[in-house]
Amino acid sequence: MKVLSILLGLMASSALFGNVEEGKKVFAANCAICHTTNGGRAMGPDMNLVAYTRHKEEITAYAKDPSAHYKAFGYSANAMPTLPLEDQEFKDVADYISSLQPFKKWMIKKKKTETEKN
Ligand code: HEC
Repeated sequence: MKVLSILLGLMASSALFGNVEEGKKVFAANCAICHTTNGGRAMGPDMNLVAYTRHKEEITAYAKDPSAHYKAFGYSANAMPTLPLEDQEFKDVADYISSLQPFKKWMIKKKKTETEKN
């Protein structure tokens, strides 16, 4: 059983790296004109900050259909266009963005509530 779970873990992580690499290309071609990844300024928010505050699923959802999500994300208007990409490309690019920040805001919150309990 142990060997099996290690094998499965390895397979999962190599799939993840594949997605991150693909996502980096998708980002460069479709998102980088409006989003920085290094704390810079552009038309849209910097993706390092987005990676810190958002779940991967939220990033995928916003990228796929900004006009349906901008209110829930706290924007009063929507300037980001709906991009004609494949489902897999949206997932890959969300994996890439998410990989920019290994530590997440909600992880910190979770830790806090755990220590509060003790
Ligand atoms: C033409 C400029 C433009 C392009 C291209 C663009 N975005 Fe955006 N994006 C924006 C703007 C502006 C916002 C701020 C909200 C809005 O106007 O919709 C935004 C917001 C976002 C958000 C929400 C961030 C948050 O947490 O508040 C995500 C996620 C996002 N973009 C992902 C992407 C991805 C992924 C791509 C490429 C596939 C992309 N964007 C391409 C302009 C752009």
